[in-house]
Amino acid sequence: MTFIELVRSRRSVRTFDGSALKPEDAESILNCADTAENPYAIPIEWRLLSAKKDGLSSPVIVGADTYIAGKLRPAPHAEEAFGYAFEEIVLFAASLGVGSTWMAGTLNRPAFERAMELREGEVMPCVSPLGYAAPKMSLRETVMRKGVKADSRLDFGKLFFDGSFDKPLTPESAGILAVPLEAVRWAPSAVNRQPWRVVLDGKAAHFYEKKNRGYVSPSGWDLQKIDLGIALCHFSRGMAEKGIRAEFVIDDPGLVTPQDTEYIASYVPAE
Ligand SMILES: Cc1cc2nc3c(=O)[nH]c(=O)nc-3n(C[C@H](O)[C@H](O)[C@H](O)COP(=O)(O)O)c2cc1C
Repeated sequence: MTFIELVRSRRSVRTFDGSALKPEDAESILNCADTAENPYAIPIEWRLLSAKKDGLSSPVIVGADTYIAGKLRPAPHAEEAFGYAFEEIVLFAASLGVGSTWMAGTLNRPAFERAMELREGEVMPCVSPLGYAAPKMSLRETVMRKGVKADSRLDFGKLFFDGSFDKPLTPESAGILAVPLEAVRWAPSAVNRQPWRVVLDGKAAHFYEKKNRGYVSPSGWDLQKIDLGIALCHFSRGMAEKGIRAEFVIDDPGLVTPQDTEYIASYVPAE
């Protein structure tokens, strides 16, 4: 399977078949988590948890016992780092046929945080169930997917731009970067908001966050920056598959940006 095929075949799985996660899948997913890197080199601690043993629950998940969760210390770019690394795990699980769903909201957080032994100053941004999809989705899952239009994404030209934000990019003018950008387009995001915007400037790709209201907590934690980390992961994996060598940098090119749009990071051609 190519990377773009993997991205297109993944979907959030909320209705599982009730069977236990195979020990070999559990082991290789935990191994993937423990070795997953992020471009910010921020350390994250991962654990597999059991709903039964740890008293965990989610109103939207049916038929899964195993969950994966990660915790880290808040720092500049912790959100993007978490998004990048967790998405590596989600994609690896999908490649094994193991279903997952990113969850920041629909969980009994105190129980998960207890099971993660969250210490003072640590955060556990998201968790995911791990298991095998049931043949049929629950009614709740079907309704949720419709509510957020989970099977569609914004058009290419609404997300990606050619040199400046007033010029929509076409897949043709994106050239060799069209497929990595398509992989970004199909990434998962909180409430399917797709806050990533990318400006291609020559061979450099500048990533921005188009902020929606209500995603920044009073402490400054920005949930949509996790989505940007996911987008960076998809782009970087998409480029790697095409053999494009690029360097990750945080170096704002100073472009004129629309309202509520914040520069995040860039990939520039490797020397
Ligand atoms: C950071 C983040 C948080 C999310 N939180 C939840 C959640 O709390 N509950 C839930 O059911 N889905 C959650 N999702 C899943 C999204 O709703 C889902 O990825 C999106 O609707 C696209 O659907 P797809 O993953 O099937 O492509 C979250 C996704 C992300 C990336």
